[in-house]
Amino acid sequence: MKPTEPQTKLSRRSFLKVSGAALLLLSGGGLYRAVDQGVFSTSKGPAYEPWAIHAVNQADLSDKAPERLVHYAILASNAHNTQPWLFRVHADRIELYADLSKNIGTMDPYFREMNISLGCAIENLCLAAQAHGFEPNVKLLDGDIDQAKVATIDLSPSSPHSSPLFHMITKRHTHRGAYDSNKPVSVALLNEMSTLSDHASSAKLLLHTDQQMKEQLGSLIVQATEAIVHDADQARDSHRWYRHSQDDIHRFKDGTTLDATGNSTLVRVFGKMLSISEKSSNAYWLKSTKEVHIPTASAYGSIVLATRSKAQLLEAGRLWQRIHLWATSKGIALHPLNQVNERLDREQQMNLTPHFGDALRSIVGGHGEHVFLFRMGYARDQALPSPRRSADEVQLQ
Ligand SMILES: Cc1cc2nc3c(=O)[nH]c(=O)nc-3n(C[C@H](O)[C@H](O)[C@H](O)COP(=O)(O)O)c2cc1C
Repeated sequence: MKPTEPQTKLSRRSFLKVSGAALLLLSGGGLYRAVDQGVFSTSKGPAYEPWAIHAVNQADLSDKAPERLVHYAILASNAHNTQPWLFRVHADRIELYADLSKNIGTMDPYFREMNISLGCAIENLCLAAQAHGFEPNVKLLDGDIDQAKVATIDLSPSSPHSSPLFHMITKRHTHRGAYDSNKPVSVALLNEMSTLSDHASSAKLLLHTDQQMKEQLGSLIVQATEAIVHDADQARDSHRWYRHSQDDIHRFKDGTTLDATGNSTLVRVFGKMLSISEKSSNAYWLKSTKEVHIPTASAYGSIVLATRSKAQLLEAGRLWQRIHLWATSKGIALHPLNQVNERLDREQQMNLTPHFGDALRSIVGGHGEHVFLFRMGYARDQALPSPRRSADEVQLQ
């Protein structure tokens, strides 16, 4: 499936609905708010400019300034779109630091998601380095899980090699919408996905395709979402990164947005006109999990590690980014669903009975420690980009 084809069909179908909605907005005197809330400027403005790098750089891959690589690193997948990275660029190496101020609090008390996110940025950086004629040599710095410096990437000159995954960096977006229940991901593609684990790394992919396991995972994900929504601290820490007003989106250039929920144009148009409270947003998340995310998942994938060290979490991130870029090249939509792991960490933090911890341990058996879960499938429409701080804004002097 070419990602562009279904988009055209959906656009035509939703046109009439949106026209009706627009008339209602105008008749309600809501035009000013519609403009103010970006109804007519989806994916445009300063927060979305970093996604346009490809158009510029395609013509100029010969630009050997290592700063160029940061432009690709910042487009990586990352938990709650906090973008927890800082880069120090030298002529022959790039140092990567965790921006610890971007921690998601009780949603990520042990920096599991932060370190996976940093690993995603490393993967993009390496793909961009090769495309620009550098051989990257990555040194992951193990040690304390919340230590700020996480990696050094040495860059030596080599002949340019731009892999198909590099070309997917600007096209990859998390897809939180409904997937086609009648179109499973084929066994051949699942087998190909399994080969993406790097033999030298301890991060491995486990696929869950049988009905019984899918039901067990689906039920666990719903239970974990309910537990988060009913945990006042987690509900607050999760919602804190939701950006509703256009003003906030372009000022902070981070966080999750209505446009990234995978909803139809109509729902997003009306949603932008309303005020969204923490309670209504979390209730909506639970409802979508139950009614859209779980029932339409074609299969699930887990990333497991031998141990949860910082270096291995970074490797898990590299693997996730690789999987997502590869899936994008095949027209497969992906969506991380990490509520169960978020509850596992919370159970440890609060010394609670390890309900979710035990469940994940029994699912992965002897394969290692479960650190990341996602669903996959085919979507009718394309996902929209999420905001990004610019490469300049995340560079240390
Ligand atoms: C470690 C990690 C955990 C994530 N967990 C979730 C999740 O539980 N639910 C979700 O909808 N997205 C999750 N995501 C996806 C991010 O929210 C997404 O990458 C971010 O908002 C940026 O959007 P983009 O991927 O479209 O660029 C996760 C991503 C990472 C790297």
